[in-house]
Amino acid sequence: MGLRTIVQDGDPILTKKCRPVTNFDDKLAQLLDDMRETLVEANGYGLAGPQVGILRRVFISVDERDMDENAEEQELKFLEFINPEIISTEGEVTQYEGCLSFPGRNGAVTRPEKVVARAFDRHGNPFTIEAEGMLARCICHESDHLEGITIVDRAEYFYEDTDGEEE
Ligand code: NI
Repeated sequence: MGLRTIVQDGDPILTKKCRPVTNFDDKLAQLLDDMRETLVEANGYGLAGPQVGILRRVFISVDERDMDENAEEQELKFLEFINPEIISTEGEVTQYEGCLSFPGRNGAVTRPEKVVARAFDRHGNPFTIEAEGMLARCICHESDHLEGITIVDRAEYFYEDTDGEEE
């Protein structure tokens, strides 16, 4: 397959609750590979199943945890979450947030500062992850997508500057 079309604002699929993944098979691997390709092409940070028209509990995120900020070029790493669950949260941060399904609608969203989540990888192996900052925000944002909740439901207000540059 390859690139998938990103579902846009107004499509009712973005408001639907997703079902758990039950088969950790080649079809799932293909979906995840396609989602990576689509995310890179869109220059995004995270992407959830419903955003490519798949109502299953799956999302991916860029993994910047081990990235060297000074390196000129490096391969992007990704995290894959299947049937994820946020098991604990800590703190609160209100910050600029965007979504590939709502281009130009970037809002101020309050999220936990830290989260602990568990999920399965593409082979069906469970893992637990502690995340903070951007990754914690992404895990919350993408988990919302699996419940049919989007930035439109969460944003306290939207920025006028669509690039999200604050004064
Ligand atoms: Ni989103």
